[in-house]
Amino acid sequence: MNKAGTKSKRNSSNARFSSEELFDVHHGDARTLSKRLPDKCVDVTVTSPPYFDMKDYGVSNQIGFGQDYETYLNDLQKIFSEVFRATKDHGSLWIVIDSFRTNQEVIPLPFDLAAQLKPTGWVLRDVIIWKKERTLPWSHKGTTRKIFEYVMVFSKSSEPFQYYPDRHRDTSDLKRWWVRYPERYNPKGKSLEEIWCYDIPTQGSWGKSYVQHFCPLPSQLVSRIISLTSNPDDVVLDPFSGSGTVPAEAALLNRKYVGFELNKRYISMFHKYLQEQTKLRPLQTKSTPQDSVIENFEQTILDLRTLKFARLLYRALEKELELGISQIFARNLPTKITLPNKIIAAEFIVHGIKASKVNAAKEFLEKLCQKAPLSKFGIEQKITFINKLEELPNLYKTKKLYLYSRTNSHQYADTCKWKDLPNITHPLISTIEVSVEEPDD
Ligand SMILES: C[S@@+](CC[C@H](N)C(=O)[O-])C[C@H]1O[C@@H](n2cnc3c(N)ncnc32)[C@H](O)[C@@H]1O
Repeated sequence: MNKAGTKSKRNSSNARFSSEELFDVHHGDARTLSKRLPDKCVDVTVTSPPYFDMKDYGVSNQIGFGQDYETYLNDLQKIFSEVFRATKDHGSLWIVIDSFRTNQEVIPLPFDLAAQLKPTGWVLRDVIIWKKERTLPWSHKGTTRKIFEYVMVFSKSSEPFQYYPDRHRDTSDLKRWWVRYPERYNPKGKSLEEIWCYDIPTQGSWGKSYVQHFCPLPSQLVSRIISLTSNPDDVVLDPFSGSGTVPAEAALLNRKYVGFELNKRYISMFHKYLQEQTKLRPLQTKSTPQDSVIENFEQTILDLRTLKFARLLYRALEKELELGISQIFARNLPTKITLPNKIIAAEFIVHGIKASKVNAAKEFLEKLCQKAPLSKFGIEQKITFINKLEELPNLYKTKKLYLYSRTNSHQYADTCKWKDLPNITHPLISTIEVSVEEPDD
């Protein structure tokens, strides 16, 4: 693990970095240093290359400033080709980059670069828009004000790459999406969308002693990419590390980092920043507050599914067969799932069906559960029948019971205890407590 304050090791040879040398922000030219990366050592690269001929980073040999467009693209191609070699088979490359204008014409740099990287082996997998919530007052040369940049996502092959979408699902809009239709969407939340909103870091927020950089990336954007694509101890690379947002976030998320940067002042800036942040932010352990938010969300969705499933069983039995059904009791089972495409096991106890009709009801339910919508709930169901309340498992005799109506299984209507059951007329009774309000609109 790299520590704040480690000095760059200078090695004049062009030999590959040894594992002791590798994990550092190295001072020098990415065109040379990238050749020194060992094969297949990197899990993910997150970077924003120098702008084309717009910003002077104050050092000779810089890429972009003073170059023509073709040389600039060729230099980037050479570096990312070395990065490709150095990336593990499951790895990915995330490039934050923007189009620009020359003589009023838009130059689609992100797509020109993607075309340039194709022959090197990189596969373009996604194009994300980083919407800058608050931008610098931008000189606006075109018809509109500039408020976004591209994040171009590449993988080493067209196979699935190391990517953990469940770590960053959106669980913020439960009411709108899941209350009535918990079976329709992923119980862990909505997938990330293509537009990500992050403010650009304000220079003042870095503190007085911190040397300023032209274009630092937002730390939250970087940490989201790192956590989506890597695990603790994995290796994160930034061949243009600038003020060091990528290596710093990697270190703070307990990953190893490798960086290259031509301007020495930016490397000292990074060391200072990492030292300060290490004091402020504890190293991330395996589980995060976000993990527990997602776990709770998922449990609610699964509970909603079990209750709705029970309600639909009740309504079908009531409507189709007139079998004299009284109630359905529902609970989740802690047993292991054995069937494919199922994510939860649940038990449904049907109470009150006449003994002579139980076989017909069983057959009816078996067919019903194999068809949509019930087959889509992801529930491995165990359905049993009882004639008397005494036959209920003991668990129902000791726990608080939640009562739901035949039209609403997302908000319990009342509660009761075992001894009250003979007087209860609610069709759905469960040990599961769910109370989610409806959307306002
Ligand atoms: C867009 S900035 C990177 C900003 C960085 N992502 C951050 O958060 O601070 C590009 C950086 O590439 C550096 N650079 C330019 N030419 C380079 C080269 N040939 N080798 C290594 N770094 C270079 C510049 O000094 C600059 O800091």
